[in-house]
Amino acid sequence: MRILGAKNYDEMSRKAANIISAQVTLNPKSVLGLATGSSPIGLYNHLIKLHGQGDISFSECQAVNLDEYLGLDKNSDQSYAYFMYENLFKHVDIKLENTYIPNGMNTDECAESERYNAVIEKLGGVDIQLLGIGNNGHIAFNEPDDVFAKKTHCVELTQNTIEANARFFDNIDDIPKKAYTMGVQSIMSAKKIVLVASGVGKAEILYQTVAGGITPNVPASVLQLHNDVTIIADEDALSVIREKAPHLINN
Ligand code: GLP
Repeated sequence: MRILGAKNYDEMSRKAANIISAQVTLNPKSVLGLATGSSPIGLYNHLIKLHGQGDISFSECQAVNLDEYLGLDKNSDQSYAYFMYENLFKHVDIKLENTYIPNGMNTDECAESERYNAVIEKLGGVDIQLLGIGNNGHIAFNEPDDVFAKKTHCVELTQNTIEANARFFDNIDDIPKKAYTMGVQSIMSAKKIVLVASGVGKAEILYQTVAGGITPNVPASVLQLHNDVTIIADEDALSVIREKAPHLINN
C-alpha cells in the first residue's frame, strides 16, 4: 500500500488524475472502475482537461461503476448514472455503450446482481479501480458488517451513509434506502486500486483503514491485502495517520 500526501483537494485530484491518465496512455483499452461522491469530482475535472488538451483519449476504454441507488432511474439527477454522465462521460470521448452501471430500476435484486457480475466478468476484470471512502469506512456501498460480501449485491444503507449523502438530495426522505454495489471480492480483483480521500471527516477512518485490523467492520481495511493500492489523501484526511503512524506515509 502506497500512501501519498497532497496539500489540498486540488493537488489530490491532480495526482490521482495523473495515475488514471498514465493507465489510459499505457493501455488505451483499459477497463476503468469508476466511483461517485464528492471525492472524485476534481480528478474527473482534471481528466476532462487532459482530454481537452489532446493528452488522453477514452475512445477505446470501458468504464464500470461501483454502485447505484435502488429505485432511481438513470435520468434521475440523483442517480449515479446521471452523476457519471454529467461529471465525466459527456465531456470526453468515451463511448456510452462502453459504460456500465447497475440498473437501479431493476427490483429483482438477484437478477440484477447476477447481470452485473456477468458484465464485470465479460470485461475481463478491472484494470484500475478508483475508490472513495465513506465516513464509516465503506467502499462502494459495502457497509460495515460482520462479513465481507463477495460480489455484486443489494445492500440496506446505514443511517450514517444516508445522512452523509443527504447533502446531494433536497430532502433526506428522498434518499433511497437500498443500493446495488460491487462486492469486496469484485473490488479486490482489480489489478490496481486508487483511493482518494479529502477532509478531516475522513482522517480517523483512514487511519483505521491503513493501520487497524482487517475487519468487515471497516470495509476499506481489506485493501491492506491488495498488492497494488495507492491512497492519495489531502493533509486534513491524513492528519490522524500523520500523528499516530507517520511511517506509513510514503511522501
Ligand atoms: C458514497 C459512494 C461511495 C463514496 C462515498 C464517499 O456512499 N457510494 O463510493 O466513496 O459516498 O463519498 P464522498 O466522496 O462524497 O465523501
